[in-house]
Amino acid sequence: DGEAYKYYADGEWKKSSSGKLVPIINPTTRKVHYKVQACTQEEVNKVIETAKIAQKSWAKTPLWKRAELLHKAASILKEYKTPIAESLVKEIAKPAKDAVTEVVRSGDLVSYCAEEGVRILGEGKFLVSDSFPGNDRTKYCLTSKIPLGVVLAIPPFNYPVNLAVSKIAPALIAGNSLVLKPPTQGAVSCLHMVHCFHLAGFPKGLISCVTGKGSEIGDFLTMHPGVSCISFTGGDTGVAISKKAGMIPLQMELGGKDACIVLEDADLDLVAANIIKGGFSYSGQRCTAVKVVLVMESVADALVEKVNKRVAKLTVGPPEENSDITPVVSESSANFIEGLVVDAKQKGATFCQEYKRDGNLIWPLLLDNVRPDMRIAWEEPFGPVLPVIRITSVEEGIHHCNASNFGLQGCVFTKDINKAILIGDAMETGTVQINSAPARGPDHFPFQGIKDSGIGSQGITNSINMMTKIKTTVINLP
Ligand code: G3H
Repeated sequence: DGEAYKYYADGEWKKSSSGKLVPIINPTTRKVHYKVQACTQEEVNKVIETAKIAQKSWAKTPLWKRAELLHKAASILKEYKTPIAESLVKEIAKPAKDAVTEVVRSGDLVSYCAEEGVRILGEGKFLVSDSFPGNDRTKYCLTSKIPLGVVLAIPPFNYPVNLAVSKIAPALIAGNSLVLKPPTQGAVSCLHMVHCFHLAGFPKGLISCVTGKGSEIGDFLTMHPGVSCISFTGGDTGVAISKKAGMIPLQMELGGKDACIVLEDADLDLVAANIIKGGFSYSGQRCTAVKVVLVMESVADALVEKVNKRVAKLTVGPPEENSDITPVVSESSANFIEGLVVDAKQKGATFCQEYKRDGNLIWPLLLDNVRPDMRIAWEEPFGPVLPVIRITSVEEGIHHCNASNFGLQGCVFTKDINKAILIGDAMETGTVQINSAPARGPDHFPFQGIKDSGIGSQGITNSINMMTKIKTTVINLP
């Protein structure tokens, strides 16, 4: 019936007083695999209260000591990569090898964050008043970066571990405490990851992990007066959170419809390889996946043929066997993807492969000759289905990219660097990749979306800065 996991609060593993459990369905078997506690609002109140108290002394803990604990957590995370990866395979059907990569990447992120924190939090500014008109040299201003308080971290199902530590590590190095609300699919992986922080020996109450139903504790957490900052990655819920949250810093990474613009002079083998990696890795369930190909008509046939040859080589099956394409996270997600496919079929898209589905498993599908009146031209499937729109001018490609309500990343393929830069400048996205598929990493690079793709900028340095506030002390001379 599925193993039941406890939640983590005040340095201990606890059962919820609700007596209720939330089931986690294995996307491959579609059966309950694990269960987690359905925490109550009262339990959330307690966790936040404890986090507030723990933060006060943590903020006074020397920076090098905070960094030391984070390094310790990073190495424990890597040591336990196998069991954590196993739960990723069962909860979110991530291919086994990629699941291990996620955990190792997370350990590296935590270590880098500790080092970067020591660098950027260890220095401040010194200003003197006489550089501003009308002032004498009678005021000295010292600046430093201080923590915000309690940071609420809400990661998504597709990187429950990595996108949790990308919030936890900057929060902690900066002297904040941390409350983690994992996604239901991915909650057990998060609890395993939190256990590594527990083993590293962080003070009680500094980190906690509350599981439960968004409908019961979601709004309660995000609107809680004790929360000083929210870092969220996910879908539309982020828009709702940003409307409801109080006057606190928000970091949001939401959806994307990353466009891949292909010019006539592009290296088509390189493009095809990047479309496969960008569009189909983890079955397209990445916010940075290539979600629409905009290719110049003159090279479209050649490109589609090359991509099709590679699609035929993708393995489809369970994550335990390291299949390239694995079941998507839930039945409702598979139904949504199917809805986009059916719409495209009705409106006349060319199916390069036969549409095939078994439970949550959807075979990779390239849709050619997609037109703007089809839903898939604009909506993100978050699945292994990729539309190709043929364009007759670069402007048409840029126009399609910019007409999207999303603006996360985009990419352009051409051998002409001048054209690449001009097109990149014209694309209204947080990042443009030249001659490569969109991607968040390396994790110290800034990562941000515009429009409905998010607020603020992530990446290790930006997250540390976002989770701190400038404090100034002015020395007034006689
Ligand atoms: O799903 C959203 C992630 O931030 C994408 O990360 O580019 O490393 O796959 P990734």
